Amino acid sequence: MPHTPPAVPAPPAAARDPRALLLPAGRALDRLDLPGLAVADLYDTAGAAFYDAFVGEVSADVVDLLRTAVAQRGPALDLACGSGRLTLPLAQRGLEVTAVDLSTAMLARLRDRLQACGTAVASRVRTVCADMTALKLGERYASVLLAATSIVLVPASRRPAFFAAVRRHLAPGGLFVFDYHVHDPQALARQPETVRVLPAPHGPGFVLSFQHFDLAAREETVNFYVENITTGGVTTRHLYTTRKQIFFWPELQADLTAAGLRVREHRRAGRAGTTRLVVCQALNGGDLR
Ligand SMILES: C[S@@+](CC[C@H](N)C(=O)[O-])C[C@H]1O[C@@H](n2cnc3c(N)ncnc32)[C@H](O)[C@@H]1O
Repeated sequence: MPHTPPAVPAPPAAARDPRALLLPAGRALDRLDLPGLAVADLYDTAGAAFYDAFVGEVSADVVDLLRTAVAQRGPALDLACGSGRLTLPLAQRGLEVTAVDLSTAMLARLRDRLQACGTAVASRVRTVCADMTALKLGERYASVLLAATSIVLVPASRRPAFFAAVRRHLAPGGLFVFDYHVHDPQALARQPETVRVLPAPHGPGFVLSFQHFDLAAREETVNFYVENITTGGVTTRHLYTTRKQIFFWPELQADLTAAGLRVREHRRAGRAGTTRLVVCQALNGGDLR
């Protein structure tokens, strides 16, 4: 399938200014004038490379979504596909996949990875640069997938529009599958800030991960400060930012129902015990087979 041009323009640059998402620690680091420090959105060009290295190519968290989509047999719509952690295994198992993401950098990485897979796999994937909350492809799919707990990237005010978009892309009998992280509101209130030190995902270096949970605003802000020492002994410094939504299951469930999506499964997934897998079907959806 051919690669298509953007279906929906990206949001204005101001709305995506990464400096607007700097936490106090991130702002302090930014003000230090550290040589070469670059501040970027986690899903822009430099951030996309870090995200991929940090998360890793293969991950157990996409297995349930993969299994469901393969069992559905028909074409899959991979929303917020990133560089294809789920898209690639879907296409490798013979499914036609439409892979949607807002980040041109992420999609460019996906296309590079597809090229390395060979034409048979690559020809089964179509990439679309679009906002998934306003998606109108005019097509229907046996499965609509949203992996990596990416539902956190949909603002609460956009959730009804997002679920409506999901529903209009479901074929009769089609399934919408996504996962999400369960928050403990008391734990967040007790400890609204966390700082972790981690090894840098590539080369010698380290990552400082700052998280801030604003329970009243229902927003989590994440800053990653990454220092790497390159082979020439040069230190590279990056600050990556992203914002996530905090929500609780009854709110999601209400929005799903209002959009005409019926929850067929809602169960624990993963080893940590804090992730849930949700499988939905369109109300009055017929049978695909
Ligand atoms: C956590 S990553 C997940 C990527 C991939 N699914 C994975 O499993 O690694 C979230 C992705 O969502 C994309 N994204 C964020 N908001 C979006 C939106 N409104 N529409 C489409 N993609 C979006 C980001 O660009 C990023 O690639």
